[in-house]
Amino acid sequence: PGAKLYSAHCQSCHQANGQGIPGVFPPLTHLDKVVQAKGGREYLIRVVLYGLQGPLTVEGKTYNGVMPPFRQLKDQEVADVLNYVLTTFAKSKAKPITAAEVKAARAKALSPQDVLKSRPPVK
Ligand code: HEM
Repeated sequence: PGAKLYSAHCQSCHQANGQGIPGVFPPLTHLDKVVQAKGGREYLIRVVLYGLQGPLTVEGKTYNGVMPPFRQLKDQEVADVLNYVLTTFAKSKAKPITAAEVKAARAKALSPQDVLKSRPPVK
């Protein structure tokens, strides 16, 4: 289910292989490090629900773009698209993100800048 959601909502920026466009759209291939970090699961869910804005460094390259929020996706869809990205592009063996985790993160009302502040310190 995640593959279809990825191609419909994410691929135009992060590209078919999750490699992004250096300096413009970050790759998603490093996300195992993010999901394993303290607060990382919640951060990834927040990025999808609330978007992301502000300067960040990923794999040695800097980004200062705007990712739109995807609040319209259902809890299970947010979990599915993240689990697709994590397993396919990041080869992650982390325990899958659940709809219940997404539901909990939805209760917050964060700005895209707030989401960036909650990013775990992963380069
Ligand atoms: C950042 C996932 C759709 C543009 C990110 C990050 C994740 C992510 C996890 C943070 C990476 C990190 O912190 O290391 C997704 C998923 C999408 C999606 C799962 C689909 C549901 C999009 C779309 C665009 C986009 C459609 C372009 C319109 C960006 C940009 C950043 C980013 C510019 C960096 C923002 C900044 O510089 O602060 N994305 N993304 N994303 N995404 Fe997406």
